[in-house]
Amino acid sequence: MRRNQRAAFVTGANKGIGFEVARQLAREGFRVFIGARNEEAGKAAAEKLDHEEKNQGNVFFLEIDVSKPESIERAAEEFARQSDRLDALVNNAGILLDDDKDVLALTAEMFQTTLRTNTLGALLVSQAFLPFLRKSDNPRIVNVSSGGGQLADGADGWAPAYCICKTALNGVTVQLAAALPDFAVNSVCPGWVRTDMGGSNATRSVAEGASGIVWLAADAPQGETGKFWRDRKVIPW
Ligand SMILES: NC(=O)c1ccc[n+]([C@@H]2O[C@H](COP(=O)([O-])OP(=O)(O)OC[C@H]3O[C@@H](n4cnc5c(N)ncnc54)[C@H](OP(=O)(O)O)[C@@H]3O)[C@@H](O)[C@H]2O)c1
Repeated sequence: MRRNQRAAFVTGANKGIGFEVARQLAREGFRVFIGARNEEAGKAAAEKLDHEEKNQGNVFFLEIDVSKPESIERAAEEFARQSDRLDALVNNAGILLDDDKDVLALTAEMFQTTLRTNTLGALLVSQAFLPFLRKSDNPRIVNVSSGGGQLADGADGWAPAYCICKTALNGVTVQLAAALPDFAVNSVCPGWVRTDMGGSNATRSVAEGASGIVWLAADAPQGETGKFWRDRKVIPW
């Protein structure tokens, strides 16, 4: 480990936007912890990044299912064995189960499953990793949200559970920002990105989608907190 090297933890980083965020943070010189619920996929992703030029020995796998409190606790314990400080937590893991569903037919199960991962997961991971973040001079929490969670222009009926849970995730962001005045805690929308979730018709590459997330995790002014961003600009809640 290099002296003063910053450390980042990205959940849901075995593929998609999370993997690209991990890659860009590693390129910026971070030690990067790849969070994944699937051990095989997580290890493969960490190995792939670690083998990329200049990353050797700086990328690690951390098993975590953000929908399960006991898995989050285990991940924090495992993290403590490898590092005592965390500079950036990126709550990226997310699920979209109801893109074609109608809010009038939304089931409790669909809603609760989405909420556990997309909203409560981010809060519980933030709580569990607070002791490590508090050791950073510039602690940052980035919650990967979605324009679908914005209330400013109403809703268009698409993916109600997903959108409501991203609205609530934005609530988590402002609550954490208020409770942690020395932290930068922000929500960010990556835009519509070509991943398994976004589909092949999406307008942005993973590199474009990850860029604004990485900026908040690594480079944005530390005083910017409690806001919602896209493309490095504040957007309405
Ligand atoms: N793509 C878009 O257009 C778009 C737009 C706005 C916001 N977002 C947000 O961006 C984030 C990343 O999305 P993506 O497009 O990269 O999606 P993706 O390709 O489907 O990747 C989602 C990642 O989250 C992980 N994950 C899901 N549930 C998890 C759990 N309980 N515990 C740990 N990891 C879990 C997945 O792991 P597995 O491989 O094990 O399933 C995967 O690594 C999400 O929060 C999403 O809501 C995406």
